[in-house]
Amino acid sequence: MTVTALIHSIYFETPNHMASREPSNWNDKLELPGKVRFMDGNGDLPMLNVTTEWSSAEIYLHGAHVTHFQRKNEPPLLFLSQVSQFAADKPIRGGIPVILPWFGPREGQPMHGFARTSAWELKQIVPAKDGSITLHFQLIAQETAGFPPFTADYLVTVSNTLALQLSVTNNSKDKEMIFEECLHTYFHVGDISAVSITGLKGASYLDKVDGFTQKTETADAIKVSSEVDRVYQDTTATVEIHDANLHRKIIVEKQNSASTVVWNPWIAKAQAMSDFGDNEYLNMVCVESGNVGKNKITLAPGKSFSFGVRLSTAN
Ligand code: BG6
Repeated sequence: MTVTALIHSIYFETPNHMASREPSNWNDKLELPGKVRFMDGNGDLPMLNVTTEWSSAEIYLHGAHVTHFQRKNEPPLLFLSQVSQFAADKPIRGGIPVILPWFGPREGQPMHGFARTSAWELKQIVPAKDGSITLHFQLIAQETAGFPPFTADYLVTVSNTLALQLSVTNNSKDKEMIFEECLHTYFHVGDISAVSITGLKGASYLDKVDGFTQKTETADAIKVSSEVDRVYQDTTATVEIHDANLHRKIIVEKQNSASTVVWNPWIAKAQAMSDFGDNEYLNMVCVESGNVGKNKITLAPGKSFSFGVRLSTAN
């Protein structure tokens, strides 16, 4: 289902079993018993706990940040740092930070945009007949940091898989919007030395660890044995993370996403980050999907663009 169709179904087709929330009545007991609970998460930040017949998930309004997804009888899919900060002005370390409207540094502005440290609004919760649950988060941004006013709609569908759709609308009447976006997903792995990443052979990438040198991926399977920070461009391919230690593979399927970023900070960077444990690089790898760098998006006034990712696992 496209994001437009899903938003249409949220608003017009499921009035009998939908729940809607506004931040102002967060503490009300409008919940879906046994399915969605509203809680105070870490740092007392508001959080949703979602349970389906296949899986569970946790999502913070702060950044519309998915911090946890786990299929029954399987280890967690997502890595979350034990020493992450949970504060209104800080990004969460792990899970799925929503990076928007720029990726990386920007002069005079915070790294990776402001979406990950903004309070998003929960617009709707839609439990579907097939048992999946979709949560619709929204961020309305005024003109700021050189960007025209825009709206971001983020759909998180929890089922046997975790599906994410980010839709950005340029609200300006006369200015185009040029932006970057990325679902900066931290995956939990059993042991990084037993991990290989496939699907990127032949793609060109910027190697940030080697002074942003432009390279072409030659490996059938990428192994991580030192710091890796690569922005793969012009690739819409599905990426698989093979984890021999946990005896599973993670499948990252993309739609309308031309960039994939692979990142592991390794030892020195891990030690330098105050919100990341010294040894946690052994149990994570980021495979991030989006449109960044030369794949940035240009939106005419009034236009929307959406991209999506589906995360699943197999043995
Ligand atoms: C990655 C970037 O996407 O995010 C890295 O490619 C960066 O260069 C990493 O270090 C983490 O960024 P942050 O701002 O969350 O520490």
